[in-house]
Amino acid sequence: MEIIIAKKAGFCFGVKEAMNKAFAAANQIKDRPIYTYGPLIHNSQTIDKLESMGIRSIEDIEKHPNSTIIVRSHGVPLSFYDLADRYGIEIIDATCPFVRKVQKIAREYYLKGYAIVIVGDPNHPEVIGIHGWCENKASIVQREEDIDQLPHHDKVCVVAQTTITQELWDAITKKLEEKAKILEKFNTICIATKDRQTSCAELAKAVDAMIVIGGHHSSNTQKLVQISKKYCKNTFAIETVEELPMEEIKNLNKIGITAGASTPDWIIKEVIDKMSNTDQHNNEMMHMMEEIENSLKVPRRGQTVKGKV
Ligand code: F3S
Repeated sequence: MEIIIAKKAGFCFGVKEAMNKAFAAANQIKDRPIYTYGPLIHNSQTIDKLESMGIRSIEDIEKHPNSTIIVRSHGVPLSFYDLADRYGIEIIDATCPFVRKVQKIAREYYLKGYAIVIVGDPNHPEVIGIHGWCENKASIVQREEDIDQLPHHDKVCVVAQTTITQELWDAITKKLEEKAKILEKFNTICIATKDRQTSCAELAKAVDAMIVIGGHHSSNTQKLVQISKKYCKNTFAIETVEELPMEEIKNLNKIGITAGASTPDWIIKEVIDKMSNTDQHNNEMMHMMEEIENSLKVPRRGQTVKGKV
């Protein structure tokens, strides 16, 4: 069995930064409780790891005054910062710079009098956050048909949730062009998402089966599943090594692996370890994964972590 890993897979820049900030906080802040505002990433194993270091996820900041709260890479509505201030909360802001850019565009054009359209999932925290930067007055669309329901506006500014597909962006903006007199388009799909989607598609075309590793609730992972299925009918979405469909893949020759932007490298490594048998292959993979782990500054599996308990 030949195992091929997508050129771009796994933790993205924004998630790495958020993880590093959380681990640093656990080591440095000892005089107040630390929380994340919502799960730091969509990966239950990582959430367990953070909990073991004393960092819990909360949804309601009013109940946790005088604490430290980590804002995850998805970002938060603008009002969150005032609220945190009112409750004496110290913020560690891990909003991804790509998301911050979308928030700023939405705010700037909202203040200039444009109707804001966000292409994305209205229930996703990133979109809820962006919406809050234009006083929750934006229209949120996730299908081409949604454009027909929009009220008429002369001046429209459209932005994208960072993890949507290029295909969806193209279809929706094409339709918007026919509707708005003045349209300011900002394709804010982030580069990490584009890279992961492109290399997933390339790989899916060339293999017998694809394993897509990532949280079942992770938006960017589910987009990869969608793309992979388009080119490779044997696409399996798994969250952990235990879900690896060994029976279905054991007789296939070429297996591709990709992983969502919030999938820790140690999970990718576990999957590769289970699938590969030769020592040489294992050694090469170990080396590659060690390099990634070193660059991440995150604790490895089995490594003891000092922090609040
Ligand atoms: Fe940021 Fe893109 Fe990752 S927006 S959090 S680098 S998927």
